[in-house]
Amino acid sequence: MAESIVVDSTASKQEKYDQLIPQILALIEGEPDLIANLANISAALKETFSFLWVGFYWVKDRDLVLGPFQGPVACTRISMGRGVCGTAWKNGQTLIVPDVEKFPDHIACSSLSRSEIVVPVFSRKSKAVVGVLDVDSEHLDHFDEVDACALARILLALDV
Ligand code: SME
Repeated sequence: MAESIVVDSTASKQEKYDQLIPQILALIEGEPDLIANLANISAALKETFSFLWVGFYWVKDRDLVLGPFQGPVACTRISMGRGVCGTAWKNGQTLIVPDVEKFPDHIACSSLSRSEIVVPVFSRKSKAVVGVLDVDSEHLDHFDEVDACALARILLALDV
């Protein structure tokens, strides 16, 4: 297992993901512990892109419950349909929010967050949403299809 992540800081966003994804896959390959893998994915993304907040919420009973993350402390429970995370869970679709202040019902965990992407994690077996990856940025309009595709690709590697 690689012990550090190496990505060219001068590369484009797409190139950074292209360099990062194989390293993340190597990091989680053969490790059956889900929490360990979610923790390392959060750390690798935060380290590479210096996002404000990167982390997972996992479906437990009737809520999304805070899982492994990197960044400031965050709210611990989100109901289905609430905020960006709860909406992505309910709809089973990636949600890109260019300006969180314009998203009705956005849950502001940090006043520094300006834009956000939430990508659902699907169970291979049931096809149901079992969690979401939430990434927040201090910059407006920070996320696009490049992030959506790359993050979804990483999540497909999870054995859930
Ligand atoms: N902003 C999210 C809540 C989670 S925090 O940003 C970490 C939302 O509206 O779902």
